[in-house]
Amino acid sequence: MMPNVEGRVRVREALQAQEAIEAIVIKGWVRTVRRSKDVIFLALNDGSCLANLQIVFAQGKPGFEEAARVVTGACVAVEGSLVASPAAGQSWEVHPRNLEVLGEADSDYPLQKKRHSFEYLRSIAHLRLRSNAFGAVFRVRNALSFAIHRFFQERKFLYVHTPVITANDCEGAGEMFRVTTLDPTGAPLEDGKIDWRKDFFGQRTGLTVSGQLQGEAFAGAFGDIYTFGPTFRAENSNTSRHAAEFWMIEPEMAFADLVEDCRLAADFLRYLCRYALEHCRDDLAFFDERIEKGLVAKLEALAQAGFETMSYTDAVAELQKSGQKFDYPVEWGCDRQSEHERFLTEQVVKGPLFVTDYPKEIKAFYMRLNNDGRTVAAMDCLVPRVGEIIGGSQREERRNVLEERMRDVGIAPQSMGWYLDLRRWGSCPHAGFGLGFERFLMYVTGMSNIRDVIPFPRTPGNAAF
Ligand code: 4AD
Ligand code: MG
Repeated sequence: MMPNVEGRVRVREALQAQEAIEAIVIKGWVRTVRRSKDVIFLALNDGSCLANLQIVFAQGKPGFEEAARVVTGACVAVEGSLVASPAAGQSWEVHPRNLEVLGEADSDYPLQKKRHSFEYLRSIAHLRLRSNAFGAVFRVRNALSFAIHRFFQERKFLYVHTPVITANDCEGAGEMFRVTTLDPTGAPLEDGKIDWRKDFFGQRTGLTVSGQLQGEAFAGAFGDIYTFGPTFRAENSNTSRHAAEFWMIEPEMAFADLVEDCRLAADFLRYLCRYALEHCRDDLAFFDERIEKGLVAKLEALAQAGFETMSYTDAVAELQKSGQKFDYPVEWGCDRQSEHERFLTEQVVKGPLFVTDYPKEIKAFYMRLNNDGRTVAAMDCLVPRVGEIIGGSQREERRNVLEERMRDVGIAPQSMGWYLDLRRWGSCPHAGFGLGFERFLMYVTGMSNIRDVIPFPRTPGNAAF
């Protein structure tokens, strides 16, 4: 059907053309149709960029009859010439010689021209991808995924695939999804409890909440490593910032302390902002206009910024002296609530903030005990609006101290013998962190719900698509 022309050209390339092209093939989905008596305009989008390419069918010219039957949502292929457009706001348009409808649509197609709420679009997650906002979100997600690898590869970090199924609950918060092949109605019992030794792996296993522990083993051989993969948490918190399945980037560095850990995190965030500003200009401009005013300026500032750092103890003092009324009262030893995070980043420092050295009781067992005996070498990076995007720490490299901490929190040391081995043979100071990819994307795009920056969100009660 498409004569004499090789391959299709993406809309993005066509719109960036330096000169007219005599013969071009464009394939995409019809975003809008405008008809008058003599002319039909089809706006085509193929996901390569935010903008549409206008196809102009004139009465009496090829394709006009077919175009008259095309509706929003259809998939079409067009062959014709790319010519300078007289219309404002676009440099090129296509004058077709041939139109082929690859996939028809009808008036039930849910994405008609008017704007839809993000909530409604979640109910059509398989189609929302064809909207401007989600096109922009997933192009930015793609670009930043690549930038993440580039950042670490440039710094000679080794990329490692840590297991998805694991017997270790790294964060110790009991939020693991079980992985089992046992029959839920007839599981083998011993003393009234399920006998996990008879399960597929011969022990209780679940989906990983973090690749850190295995990452530490790799750091103990390769020095600097990172993981970038899916993580799973069965926390039943139905918030706009929690997903049951999300992606995490976790670097781990041998021979590093908490200061170097914070430095790496700050360099990383600045790098990613710069990358997005350079490579996703149009999509960020869209977010700036429609989702969060001032977004581009915010990212430009962050790309340059030094990051504020504050100890947990100082943060508590700031909150107490603020005179602000919080739903959760602030005292030394309490865990941070999102209202506290927001106050610190939005009111006190007005930007991203590292909070360090938390009471050991509210942090995971593997964090290094400070000399005061009460706090651990932890750091969280908080940002305005989103709250915590990074959690990290220097790790406890002293075997005896680690064993004691495990016992304190009720982990039998022999249940993680391999992890203790790393402290037995060739232990070294080391540190790392985890960046929640979706939380970061919320910050970069201004989208306010985590469900809107992940392709097919998994949250309590929702695993459709
Ligand atoms: O603070 P977290 O629990 O830290 C860890 O898992 C460490 N093992 C990381 C490390 O040191 N290697 O989680 C890290 C980040 C959080 O700061 C947050 O951005 C994100 O993961 N995160 C979630 N994102 C979406 N949905 C959830 N349910 C999340 N839980 C954590
Ligand atoms: Mg955390």
